[in-house]
Amino acid sequence: AQSPSLDRDCTTLSRYVLQELHSFSAEAQDLSALMNRIALAGKLISRRLSRAGIVEDVLGFTGETNVQGESVKKMDVYANDVFISVFKQSGLVCRLASEEMDKPYYIPENCPIGRYTLLLDPIDGSSNIDTNLSVGSIFSIRQQEGDDVDQTATDLLQNGHKQIAAGYILYGASTMLVFTLGNGVHSFTLDPSLGEFILAEENMQIPESGSVYSLNEGNFWQWEEPIREYVRYVHRQEGYSARYGGALVADFHRIIQQGGVFLYPGTVNKPEGKLRLLYETVPLAFLIEQAGGKASTGRERLMDVVPEKLHARSPLVIGSPKNVELVESFY
Ligand code: AHG
Ligand code: MN
Ligand code: MN
Ligand code: MN
Repeated sequence: AQSPSLDRDCTTLSRYVLQELHSFSAEAQDLSALMNRIALAGKLISRRLSRAGIVEDVLGFTGETNVQGESVKKMDVYANDVFISVFKQSGLVCRLASEEMDKPYYIPENCPIGRYTLLLDPIDGSSNIDTNLSVGSIFSIRQQEGDDVDQTATDLLQNGHKQIAAGYILYGASTMLVFTLGNGVHSFTLDPSLGEFILAEENMQIPESGSVYSLNEGNFWQWEEPIREYVRYVHRQEGYSARYGGALVADFHRIIQQGGVFLYPGTVNKPEGKLRLLYETVPLAFLIEQAGGKASTGRERLMDVVPEKLHARSPLVIGSPKNVELVESFY
């Protein structure tokens, strides 16, 4: 029999995706190849981040402002370029829609209709880069519908059930790839000595409830009243822990692992909140539901929300079912 460590080292991403899809069909092969390209992007970004401060163009700002009105970090641009370049010759993806790009990037030579669209937050939590704290990349895969000749990508303005896959790469103490193809949530850890993502956890399930609540209390004075009521309630309870790291992916990973709830609520001035639907909240909603959790705007199931525009935002309440239901009970 093979040694357990050898078998472990051989449970690579490509083998696992084909196993999970229980098929070697063309579509399964495409998804396996696509996940491998995501992994390559993750390796390139992880390597670059690990050299922050000793190579040029990792820390700091480009001086530009993106479509979100945010100051662009050099790593935002680098990561966005990495995803474009790993998918250029892939034959797999027709379009990349990213938080960092006003319009999608088209790869016409890859484009029989029905090919995939990659939706991206190339670096999430970019304010953490210059302080060596965790950051992430968030991705979501949808099937292109129609020929999009006017390049407005309006077929992307559909609810989260249209996602074929979603996940994130967490650049933390270890680099992890966590994703779902609609058949459970699985985590892979990068073994840099192999240059492979190795299966770490299958079918992650979030605890029914948890003691962590995660939100930026500096915004308390701006929140809509139901959220202020919820936080006042939590402040009176024993047993809660506040954890907030400033990177959605890292805060989400803590919640999916340990239970609890992450919130990025709307405010009186910006009821839709800060986080982007297509690139942040809806991919994570897919994951959390696959792990037995819930994701809501506070008022409705996030997976049902239809974005009006590519850069639409939504409030986010996500985590253990019991914790999310408690927040919703204040609305
Ligand atoms: P991004 O770096 O992709 O723009 O995302 C930042 C987001 C998210 O990662 C995090 O949860 C949130 O911004 C933090 O916002 P505040 O600093 O307002 O709490
Ligand atoms: Mn940003
Ligand atoms: Mn983000
Ligand atoms: Mn980002």
